[in-house]
Amino acid sequence: MLSGKIEDALNKQIAIEAESSQFYLAMASWAETQGLNGTSTFLYEHSDEERMHMLKLVHFVNERGGKAIIPVLQQPPSEFESITNIFESLLNHEIMVSEQINHVVDICLQEKDYTTHNFMQWYVSEQIEEEALARTIMDKLNMIGTDKGGLYLFDRDLERISGSVNKGQSTE
Ligand code: FEO
Repeated sequence: MLSGKIEDALNKQIAIEAESSQFYLAMASWAETQGLNGTSTFLYEHSDEERMHMLKLVHFVNERGGKAIIPVLQQPPSEFESITNIFESLLNHEIMVSEQINHVVDICLQEKDYTTHNFMQWYVSEQIEEEALARTIMDKLNMIGTDKGGLYLFDRDLERISGSVNKGQSTE
C-alpha cells in the first residue's frame, strides 16, 4: 500500500511524464512541417516513449492500492526557432525530469518504501540514457552549426537512431 506522500509524488511524476510526451509531440509536429523527417520521426517516437513512462506509473500506482490521476496538460509551444533550439529545450527538460525523479527517490527513502524505491530505479537508469543521448545530439548540432549539408545529414542520422530507440523499447 502506498503512503499518501508517495502517492502524491508518483501522481506528480505521472503529470511530468505526460507533459513530456505532449512537449515532444509538439516538437515532432513542428519538425514534420519543416520537412525534417528524421527529426520528426525521432521526436514522435520519443513522445510515445514518454507516454509509456507515464502508463508504467499509472499501472504501478493503481496496482499498489493508490489512485492514479490523469492530469490536465498545458498547451505546448507550436513554434520553435530551429532544430538546435528543440534539442536544447529537450535536454533542459530531461535534466528537470531527472531532478524530479531523484526527488521521488528521496521521498521513497524518507518513507522507507523500498518497493517504490526499487520501481523508480528503472526511471533513474532511463534518465541517464536519455540525458546522454540528448547531450550527444547537442554536441553534433554544435559542431554542425548552420551548415545546411551538415543539418541534412544530421536529420538522416536521426532516422537511424530512431530505429535503435524502437528496438530498445520492444525488448522491454
Ligand atoms: Fe520520461 Fe524522458 O522522461
